[in-house]
Amino acid sequence: KLILVLNGPNLNLLGKREPGIYGSATLDDIAKALEERATALELTIETRQSNHEGALVDGLHEAQARGAHAVLLNAGAYTHTSIALLDAIRAIDVPVIEVHLSNPHAREAFRHTSWVALAAKGTVAGFGADSYLLALEAAARL
Ligand code: DQA
Repeated sequence: KLILVLNGPNLNLLGKREPGIYGSATLDDIAKALEERATALELTIETRQSNHEGALVDGLHEAQARGAHAVLLNAGAYTHTSIALLDAIRAIDVPVIEVHLSNPHAREAFRHTSWVALAAKGTVAGFGADSYLLALEAAARL
């Protein structure tokens, strides 16, 4: 069972980017932790990152084409702006779990709206890098 982990803009800078908010783990650290846990759960993980909205749309289409079991999606700031991502999630049958390191609801008002959430199976937010691992546990149970 394939789990595709799609990461949006600026998440390539994790570890260096506003560490007080996003923590010191890099995206590579997160990918490795996910792979370890996925092996124990007999799941296959592929982790991607793009700063481009359309590449994330392509990733969601790819999840459908490859019959993925689930997608973990941290769309970064596109969470709050992208109707294209909302439409892509609605266009596929693969369940999408929304992931955030921070808790957007505890931050600026412009982060309180999530277009992704309208179509996501559920959301894990606010647990730092562990948000991804908790989302993986949820994906394994689907
Ligand atoms: C984020 C939260 C978003 O509001 C922000 O734009 C990000 C990261 C998170 O993981 O906490 O880039 O998705």
